[in-house]
Amino acid sequence: MAKINFGGVWEEVVTREEFPMEKALDVLKNDTIAIIGYGVQGPAQALNLRDNGFKVIVGQRKGSKTWDKAVEHGWVPGETLFEIEEAAKRGTVIEFLLSDAGQIALWPTLKPFLTKGKTLYFSHGFGITFKEQTGIVPPADIDVVLAAPKGSGTSVRRLFLQGKGINSSYAVFQDATGNAKQKQLP
Ligand SMILES: NC(=O)c1ccc[n+]([C@@H]2O[C@H](COP(=O)([O-])OP(=O)(O)OC[C@H]3O[C@@H](n4cnc5c(N)ncnc54)[C@H](OP(=O)(O)O)[C@@H]3O)[C@@H](O)[C@H]2O)c1
Repeated sequence: MAKINFGGVWEEVVTREEFPMEKALDVLKNDTIAIIGYGVQGPAQALNLRDNGFKVIVGQRKGSKTWDKAVEHGWVPGETLFEIEEAAKRGTVIEFLLSDAGQIALWPTLKPFLTKGKTLYFSHGFGITFKEQTGIVPPADIDVVLAAPKGSGTSVRRLFLQGKGINSSYAVFQDATGNAKQKQLP
């Protein structure tokens, strides 16, 4: 595993060869990944994960065009597409992919579903880094991780469909289970 010094901080670089898709599928074989929010990153990550064989559901509030977009993308209401609360209840890895302002607004609704052993996943560090200001304070008995693609959701999907990929920053904020790093690398 390579290490790069970014401004005095040593960062690990993990390649797909070092963490192959078979390993990722094995690590998450008992998990249901709930993608909460279907704006820009939501569709890209949900569709890529689904196409790679992971068990994925989408949580999106009804009555907005975004719900209809999810249906157009093949997510089936009551099977793989749910209201946010229901998806959060069913999911074991919760990808919190609302807009950053939306994350603050929805946090009190989401938090009760973050039960022991689940993983809370962000694609941007704002909400959790500034938790005193945002109020996004996770329970101590869950894992909290970040995987932030270095590009827009449209690039994440387009490059995937081209058989390529995109690099992402990753970090572990809280490792309650001892498996947080493994679970976020896929
Ligand atoms: N955009 C990117 O390419 C990109 C790149 C790297 C990282 N990120 C990070 O990824 C995360 C998601 O970003 P994004 O750009 O995908 O977000 P986005 O498109 O702005 O998110 C829109 C989603 O949030 C929902 N939402 C907003 N406010 C809500 C509320 N109060 N209650 C319930 N749902 C609400 C929307 O539902 P409705 O449609 O019903 O309003 C929609 O599903 C952020 O942390 C962002 O910083 C984004």
